[in-house]
Amino acid sequence: MTNVNQQEMEKLFEAAWQAAENSYSPYSEFRVGAALRLTNGETVTGTNVENVSYGLTVCAERAAVARAVSEFGPKVRIAAAAVANLNRSASPPCGACRQVLAEFMTPDAPVMFPAADGTRTMALSELLPLGSEMKLK
Ligand code: THU
Repeated sequence: MTNVNQQEMEKLFEAAWQAAENSYSPYSEFRVGAALRLTNGETVTGTNVENVSYGLTVCAERAAVARAVSEFGPKVRIAAAAVANLNRSASPPCGACRQVLAEFMTPDAPVMFPAADGTRTMALSELLPLGSEMKLK
């Protein structure tokens, strides 16, 4: 995995936890936060934003990616990601979020998330095999 050390990952997890405080989740009451460490040293966060039309919900991870690109432009790269929730449940990123992270993250970059017993950190390529192989031409 890329060189973001354990202490930095824990800091990132803490930022994700803080971001979850802003969750708009009146339907599921599942309060999620995500934090991205960018290769430029910045950290950006996001939270889940639900909608009365459930399918329009945006997950915390994708909210954070949209924020990173909006703030730092299309060349932004993600060195590491962390996800947290205030419900004390396991919450690895959903499939859609793994795919969106893969657009801006190298396959060996670490993703930390709440697991059944504590946190777990996995490389993006473990969460999304072949995630960087789709080519349109
Ligand atoms: N959710 C996230 O924001 N990220 C995850 O990794 C798991 C799921 C949100 C979507 C929805 O608002 C709520 O959690 C329940 O699925």
